[in-house]
Formats: sequence, structure tokens, C-alpha cells
Amino acid sequence: MKLRTRLIATFCAIILLPILLASVSFMFTGPYTTMAQSRLVLTLVLILLITSICLCIWIWTSFLDPVSQLNKALQKVAEGDLNYQLDPEQYKDKGEIYDMIRNYEDMRLRLKESQDEMMEHEHANRELISNISHDLKTPITSVKGYVEGIMDGVADTPEKMDRYIKTIYNKANDMDRLINELTIYAGIDTNRIPYNFHRINIADYFGDCIEEVGLDLESRNITLNYSNITAPDTMVIADPEQMKRVINNIISNSVKYIDKPNGVIDIRILDEVDSIRIEIEDNGKGIAPKDLARIFERFYRTDSSRNSSQGGSGIGLSIVKKIIEDHGGYIWATSKEGEGTCIHFVLRKYFEPDEPDTTEEE
Ligand SMILES: Nc1ncnc2c1ncn2[C@@H]1O[C@H](COP(=O)(O)OP(=O)(O)O)[C@@H](O)[C@H]1O
Ligand SMILES: [Mg+2]
Repeated sequence: MKLRTRLIATFCAIILLPILLASVSFMFTGPYTTMAQSRLVLTLVLILLITSICLCIWIWTSFLDPVSQLNKALQKVAEGDLNYQLDPEQYKDKGEIYDMIRNYEDMRLRLKESQDEMMEHEHANRELISNISHDLKTPITSVKGYVEGIMDGVADTPEKMDRYIKTIYNKANDMDRLINELTIYAGIDTNRIPYNFHRINIADYFGDCIEEVGLDLESRNITLNYSNITAPDTMVIADPEQMKRVINNIISNSVKYIDKPNGVIDIRILDEVDSIRIEIEDNGKGIAPKDLARIFERFYRTDSSRNSSQGGSGIGLSIVKKIIEDHGGYIWATSKEGEGTCIHFVLRKYFEPDEPDTTEEE
């Protein structure tokens, strides 16, 4: 039976039952009532009628109304519309009804949040695929072009041949890097990044790194400045390979987003007592303040880089952040639009445990 019918039935029963009972008792006692008695009965019936009407209205407004509102809202949710809002504040003084409405709102907001997240993820995945296709297609097209050049005999001098082969090698390296990045990305969610932690000497490690990236940057006409003010014996515990991934990722962003003819990248290693801070700064196009906090999010790309033809997946910096955090460090960025960007990250120093004191006291 519907609540509404049940309420109407209750209402009728409240009035009819006493009348019915009174009539039955009259039948047995006989209709010999005085005027005063019948007036009393009439008054009683009237009082009964008014109280039950008041009670019904009260129950109707305090119970049936919100329940039918809630029912309508739940129906909308079942149909997939998560925008049907109920205001719990309206039912503040209604005890359990208020709890029910508030629970509905909590549920709706949570469902909406996960629906939005899912849609964003789906959109990002689609964009990732199109960016990967773009990023893979560009080097493959030029590899094909250069190989065809060699086959057609265009590379007719040893110098030309050398240049062609070097370009093919570089392009193959680009593809290898991208595929590597994707493999790492696939492992991020399931914590499957393989780490091999070692004690590494900062000066030696960065010295080698700078030498390696320096050659590449030189060929791209970008000046690299390097300074290290930490003590020569400063050590950290890190995975050298993953740390290289971090540095390469940050530098490749700088290279990608440098928009000036004289590109400059500064790498500084600073001492912060218990930790070291690495700063990689470029004089590129910079990042708008509204994007700055979000560039480490997975798939996040600023509007200007999204609209550029350079490609990119938006996963580079999310991998970088994950690796730094897995090393117990933290990372952030500062930037000025039109002037450049600086990525800072901090790693804790490793201190050799103190030698046990072996001198014997006499
Ligand atoms: N050095 C930089 N200069 C300007 N913008 C940058 C720089 N580094 C990162 N960004 C912005 O942050 C976004 C995220 O970077 P990243 O995760 O490496 O993705 P992408 O694949 O686009 O390089 C980039 O799309 C770009 O908009
Ligand atoms: Mg990148």
C-alpha cells in the first residue's frame, strides 16, 4: 500500500472508528440520549475531526513531502542525472529526514566527483593516445625520409652519409625514450617502478650527467651553465638510472619550451644542511601562475603547449614527481611567463654512520 493511501486510511480510521463504536454502543444502550448528551457527542466528534486533520497535515508536510522529493531525486540519479540537488538545510529540524536528505546529497556529490574524474581520465587517455601517435609518427617519418635518401643515393658523400645515419640514430633514440616513458607510466599506478638504490656522490654523478647532456645541448645551440656549491663528499641515496630520467625529463622540457634564439639552461646544486637542492632553470616561455601548481599532475599540459605542434603526453613531470617522492624528496616549480621556468627538487643527504668509538679509556 502506498504511503499516501495508508495515511488517508489512517485519517479515516481515526474518525470513523470512534463514530462506529459509538453507534454500536448506542444500538445496545438505546437512543435515549438527552440534548446535552448528543451535544457532547457532537463536540467530541468535532474535536476528533480537527485533531486528526491537524495531525495528518503535520505528518504530510514533515514526512511525505520530503520522502517524495527524495524519491524523485533518487529516480533522477538512477536515470544518470547527477545534478538534481536537494538542500538538507531546508530539513534541518526534521531529524531522520534531514539525515536522509544529507546522505542523498553526500552520495550524489561523491558519484558526481567520480563520474567527473572518470570522464577526465577518459579524455586524458584519448589525448595521450593521439599525442603518442604524434610523437612516434614524427621521428618515424624522418627515419623513413633519411633511409629513403640513403637508398636513393642522395647521401653521396661520406659526410652526408654520416649526418644521415646520426639523424636516424637520434630519432630512434627519441622513440626509445618515449616508449620507455610509457613503460614507466604503466608501472606507476601499480608501484612497479624498479628501483636500484645506491649511495651516490653528488659531484661525480652530476659531473657525468652534465657532460652527457652538455653535448646534446651544444648541438641544439643551448648554453648550459653548471654550478655545485655542495661539499665534494656530499652523498645521497638514489637510483642513478631513475635520477637520470628525472634530469633528462626536466631538461627535455626546457629544450622543448625554450622560445628564444639564445637558449640558456642553468643547473645549480645548493647545500641545505641536511639536504641538497637541485635547480634547473631555463629562459623559455614560462608557465602561467594558474598552471604552475598543476604541471606535475598526470596528463596536465598548459593550453599553450596543448595548442603547439610539439606533441607531448603530459606524463613526463608526473613521472618525475613520483620518482622524487619515492626517493623521500619533494619537487616544485617557479616560473615567470615570457622569462623562464625553474624546477627545484630536494633530496636528503646521506651521512656515513659514525664509527664506533674504539679508544679504550684507562
Ligand atoms: N620548462 C618548461 N617551460 C614551460 N612549460 C613547461 C616546462 N616544463 C613543463 N612545462 C609545462 O608543463 C606541462 C607538463 O609537462 P610534462 O609532464 O613534461 O608534459 P609534456 O609531455 O607536455 O612535456 C607541459 O605541457 C608544459 O605546458
Ligand atoms: Mg615533458
